[in-house]
Amino acid sequence: MDYKILLADQLAAHVEGIGRDQLADLIEYPPNPQMGDLSLPCFKLSKQLRKAPQAIAEEIKTKWQPQGAFASVDAVAGYVNVFLNKAAFAESVISEVLSKKDRYGSQNIGNGRNIVIDFSSPNIAKTFHIGHLRSTMIGNAIYNIFQYEGYNCIGINHLGDWGTQFGKLIVAYKNWGSEAAVEAEGIDELQRIYVKLHDEAETRPELEDEARAWFVKLEQGDEEALKLWKWFVEISLKEFQKMYELLGVRFDSYAGESFYNDKMAPVLDELKQKNLLQEDDGALLVRLEDYNMPPALMVKKDGGTLYHTRDVTAAIYRHNTYDFEKAIYVTDAGQSLHFQQWFKVIELMGYDWAKNLQHVPFGKVSLEGAKLSTRKGNVIRLEELLTQAIDKTRDIIEQKNPNMENKEEVARKVGVGAIIFNDLSNNRVKDVVFSWEDALNFEGESGPYVQYTQARACSILRKANGSDSNELPAHTGTLNPAKLENAEAVAVLKEIYLFAERVEQAMNKLEPSIVSRYLVDLAQSFNRFYHECPILNVEDPELRAARLALVKCTQITMVNGLRLIGLEAPEKI
Ligand code: ARG
Repeated sequence: MDYKILLADQLAAHVEGIGRDQLADLIEYPPNPQMGDLSLPCFKLSKQLRKAPQAIAEEIKTKWQPQGAFASVDAVAGYVNVFLNKAAFAESVISEVLSKKDRYGSQNIGNGRNIVIDFSSPNIAKTFHIGHLRSTMIGNAIYNIFQYEGYNCIGINHLGDWGTQFGKLIVAYKNWGSEAAVEAEGIDELQRIYVKLHDEAETRPELEDEARAWFVKLEQGDEEALKLWKWFVEISLKEFQKMYELLGVRFDSYAGESFYNDKMAPVLDELKQKNLLQEDDGALLVRLEDYNMPPALMVKKDGGTLYHTRDVTAAIYRHNTYDFEKAIYVTDAGQSLHFQQWFKVIELMGYDWAKNLQHVPFGKVSLEGAKLSTRKGNVIRLEELLTQAIDKTRDIIEQKNPNMENKEEVARKVGVGAIIFNDLSNNRVKDVVFSWEDALNFEGESGPYVQYTQARACSILRKANGSDSNELPAHTGTLNPAKLENAEAVAVLKEIYLFAERVEQAMNKLEPSIVSRYLVDLAQSFNRFYHECPILNVEDPELRAARLALVKCTQITMVNGLRLIGLEAPEKI
């Protein structure tokens, strides 16, 4: 039930000329429960109604008789403060969570419509670094959230698997590579020989020409070149796949840049036909100075295509294939101009769906302290980061709970979860400073804190059942929600109630951190309840049953939220 709409519906009858939706938009949840559970500020209505805010509030108070879900009303300082009927509220929240279970919080907004999400998209033969982790986790959370809301999501890993760098890699391999070293060391070895080529080319520029020639061969389908390229892709994908498995991420398509090789020519023809392509010193580009942007380069002097060419082609292909309502691209904010440029090209081609293309940028990650810098260079390898997180979590578990079963599995779920959560806990465009202490702080605003709270709820339920089951134990008589009237319990109920609204906001703003922050709020209010209110050791069986139901509803909501942002919810920590 949406209480804002319910209230707006009732109040609208008493405020002339103002519609329900306008009122619903104005209604707030006051920060302090003494100011009501819902509140309508009348300041914005003042002009329209030609009355002072307090006069409006008082008029509403006199005319409106609270009933059903609402218990009483107050008019204070220009606000209409409304108090809920706590028993009815508890009843409705609990029955909704218990009946919807793993669907609780979903409103099925999408109705099966298609959303394309381009995320992760690492580059072949290059390290999977912490920036790709952000794209992977933000993209994955956005995918889960849209899917939860009933959209049909198509997750695409637009692999960077084409471009002049492959000519270089072939030359490097032919000069300094060995099959055994590449098989053994994978991307690290490919990266090593690639860097070596760059260094050597400083004194031997002919290497660059060789590399260009090999790329041309590759584009023309030369057998040897293709064989090597395929092998580089295979070696890299094997490593990426390991990361995805650890992170619990999957894609519906791995159509990378090379997938568009045979699809670019018709798009270039179309651009020509539409008079958008201009020649500039042998290259072909789309001028964008009218839009205050540098031109989008489509074909290089030597005939080669570019990142732009492949993105424009891919978007047209995806629109034809998936008829999407929205296509989302998750990359670092450094690529914003690139996306603005080619979105404009699509618009200039006359496609009105250009407005449905959306870049979802995110900020950089830096590390606190020097210790985290890696063996090689200054890119942070994701694999190392995750391995360290798992090791550190194992140490913490070893101290906290040395007799735990499945230590290894829990260390993986919590360690990986800590990294993911840390990545998603701030507004995505903000730069993140990574700190082990914050990420792994079981008491702070962290993934482990939320996971630990969820496990605590499971443990209460297990104790109540006297078994390994997390289900709500059967109780005699009907559930009496009126027993949940104390402030701590109401605060938890209110948080649980807010979940659906938060998920919808996270979806509309493409901002998974709304869900992460929500989970911290829910965990905090649950822990306050847990510390203040005995659950298992109470005499009154109705009170015990009602509190256990609240525990179960919290646990369900937490699991749903954790899954949305890509975290597992271990039952025992
Ligand atoms: N491969 C690119 C990178 O590593 C990201 C690709 C994003 N997707 C796209 N359609 N341009 O930065």
